Amino acid sequence: MLSFLSLLILALTVVQSQPDTNSPPSKEFIASKAHRMELLLLDRELNSNLEEYIEELQSKIEVLQRFAEMFRTPLEEAKGREEEYLSNPLHSFRLIRHMHEDWRHVEKFMRQPVGKNQIKFIKGKAKEFPLKEDAEEATEAFYRIIRTYDVRGEDLVHGLIDGVRYNGSISAIDFYSLGALHFQWGEYDKAAQFLSFCLDLVEPEYHSMYNVLGFASSEVFLLLARCFMEMDQEEYARRTLMSHPDLAEHSEPLLSLFTNKKHAKLSEDLQRALPEEFNQICRSSHQNKPSRLHCRYNATSSPFLRLAPLRMEELSLDPYIVVYHNVLSDAEIAEIKRIGEPLLIRAGLGKKNTNQNYKVRTALGAWMPDDKMDASGWPVLHRIFRRIRDMTGLIMNSHQFLQLIKYGFGGHYDRHFDFINGSFPITQGDRMATVLFYLSDARHGGSTIFTHLKLKVPAERGKVLFWYNMRGETHDLDTRTIHGACPVIDGTKTVLSCWIHEFDQMFIQPTYRPGGRVFPYSPTEG
Ligand SMILES: *[C@@H]1O[C@H](CO)[C@@H](O)[C@H](O)[C@H]1NC(C)=O
Ligand SMILES: *[C@@H]1O[C@H](CO)[C@@H](O)[C@H](O)[C@H]1NC(C)=O
Ligand SMILES: *[C@@H]1O[C@H](CO)[C@@H](O)[C@H](O)[C@H]1NC(C)=O
Repeated sequence: MLSFLSLLILALTVVQSQPDTNSPPSKEFIASKAHRMELLLLDRELNSNLEEYIEELQSKIEVLQRFAEMFRTPLEEAKGREEEYLSNPLHSFRLIRHMHEDWRHVEKFMRQPVGKNQIKFIKGKAKEFPLKEDAEEATEAFYRIIRTYDVRGEDLVHGLIDGVRYNGSISAIDFYSLGALHFQWGEYDKAAQFLSFCLDLVEPEYHSMYNVLGFASSEVFLLLARCFMEMDQEEYARRTLMSHPDLAEHSEPLLSLFTNKKHAKLSEDLQRALPEEFNQICRSSHQNKPSRLHCRYNATSSPFLRLAPLRMEELSLDPYIVVYHNVLSDAEIAEIKRIGEPLLIRAGLGKKNTNQNYKVRTALGAWMPDDKMDASGWPVLHRIFRRIRDMTGLIMNSHQFLQLIKYGFGGHYDRHFDFINGSFPITQGDRMATVLFYLSDARHGGSTIFTHLKLKVPAERGKVLFWYNMRGETHDLDTRTIHGACPVIDGTKTVLSCWIHEFDQMFIQPTYRPGGRVFPYSPTEG
């Protein structure tokens, strides 16, 4: 039975734990399948270790059982005829000798620790476990998938995400952590939904295991009651508390506590959910508007393309957005991954002044070329720059960079523009056009979407997406190009992006800016 004081503490501290920010995650469990593979292997190792421990424990139990049996036999023999038993010299001798020494040895044996090695093994492996931040990140990634693809509790029970049935399902404890996260972010109705599913999945026969795992159903009831109070549904809150034996007698003081100490909801700019207009385009229910645009082989822009025309698909004429197919060979893709992957670091972007709480992007990124890059990677980079030139007919300067970006499950990029618009100085002018190579298939999710145009481009290996961020001759920033990346559900999405700058085009594309500004101008002017 929980005391009211401990309930009170529980009621107010539940899900308010903060990450220990000074220990950054050392592994990329979300973005790197290889790191998750290590975890899986470690899990397997720990499970064998647990089995060894059980064996050791069992063999001790067997020895103890034999002792109990052996010691019980004479006692049973003596039962009801103790006087007679004790007059037998064999029995007297045995009893005294036995009582003098046997129990001492048994006590020593009982005290011997079992499975010291296995316990040491787990302790030693603890440094390889995901950190609290990793677990929170995984929960957040899953939250994004849930929100963007509108996954409901009953879908999760059946492993159904955005129309795809996944093997496996999630446990009561998993539901609790999702409920707690939704509560923390002020989404009380969703939180209540997940907590109810958690309670449905609680198996009474697992009670002792839940205890070991630090999971108490009273916490779920408390949090569920708080959700109802936050939604001004006091009657539901009361009923929730009344239905738990430990909480029933404290329900009134708990209700008034929840009334007086409302949960501090996150402010608008800390809200984690991607906007609904974004989410709707990501879902499989969204279909691009049928267009009159055709696929064709574009062989006009360079001698290279006249020899090897690329299949081009026009997605939009204004703004100009096209997809080229089969631009890079498998060998080239493998080569870029070989040189780029060792350079990958966190490329998460956070909104300013929000303690990085809201993540605009969750991915790994690397710039190429880079000092640390394997020099044998230069030829493939040169080939790619030339391919971009051939494809787009635009000029690439000699200090051009490519950015490799890798999204794991739940990895996303909120709406943004690629143009810089003077937010930092750049000598080659603004990013006039963007070229995005897809180096892997995201099996599910991970599309690139243009929210204003309601256009979805699935991430498919070998494709290249190309668009202009500025309008034709005026070079006005084209805000219709606002775009983002849907959370990846299954697989890893790797893209290579390149920005083509306006000043590099000065000899092929004369620019007229309204207001009579002469091109080229110094970027500091504008
Ligand atoms: C689901 O599991 C079954 C049996 O383990 C397996 O045969 C099947 O391929 C799995 N399906 C998916 C989509 O992973
Ligand atoms: C071929 O591509 C270039 C550069 O993207 C473009 O300017 C041109 O209009 C395209 N040609 C055709 C026939 O679509
Ligand atoms: C570009 O920056 C200027 C000055 O900060 C601002 O007024 C303008 O709205 C920005 N344009 C876009 C499209 O963001």
